[in-house]
Amino acid sequence: MDKRGKFIVIDGMDGSGKGTQIRLLQDKLAGKNAFFTREPGGAGNALAEEIRAMLLRPGGPASTATTDFFLFFASRAAHIELTVEPMRQKGTHVLSDRYDSSTFAFQIRGENTDPWLQDMFMKVRETLPAMYYPDLYIVLDLSAEVAYERRAKDAAQEKSKFDTKPLEYHERVRAGFNSFAQHFGPVQFVDAQRTPEEVHADIWKLVSRELGLN
Ligand code: TYD
Repeated sequence: MDKRGKFIVIDGMDGSGKGTQIRLLQDKLAGKNAFFTREPGGAGNALAEEIRAMLLRPGGPASTATTDFFLFFASRAAHIELTVEPMRQKGTHVLSDRYDSSTFAFQIRGENTDPWLQDMFMKVRETLPAMYYPDLYIVLDLSAEVAYERRAKDAAQEKSKFDTKPLEYHERVRAGFNSFAQHFGPVQFVDAQRTPEEVHADIWKLVSRELGLN
């Protein structure tokens, strides 16, 4: 197939209902030449998944925003080079649960990081090879309080070390996604403070348009 697959990112705060939305999207896209993957790590990507385990292990050694930043990008390099790009070259569409929008929102803005690391993000982001740039980011947006309540209720969900941070952190993360959209993109926000069906309808409009599936 000579037509390159599209690359769409679904992102948002912990507690935004992203997991449910991705499942609904998977059902809708079954049999439609779409591959679902995630970051950190990557579906079927042993190298990227090893880095994921290192990053998210609860109770693991304390890290720093700088170390996390480079590990997220190391995992991303493996993900793009070994999974995302080969899929797209075969003409398969790739949908990723999180991407560099999360690094910006969590490590750069959430952590209130040093200006030099912010600068590093900008530099890395603008010098990446073309295959690293998604066609579309869809960010599920909701207030940090509602996201916090949803996470607290969802006791069954395994908590990563980023889930257990205070409310102010998640407020900075939300602002970080907004700021990401101002600097980079293209980003479409979807109001996630509605029923899963309403949220899904908006996401489907964006995805089906991007993939030419109307
Ligand atoms: P995961 O268990 O996959 O949760 P979720 O369902 O919320 O995606 O954990 C991923 C965690 O990693 C999540 O708390 C967000 C965080 N993260 C970053 O901090 N930076 C990044 O660049 C990425 C991709 C994720």
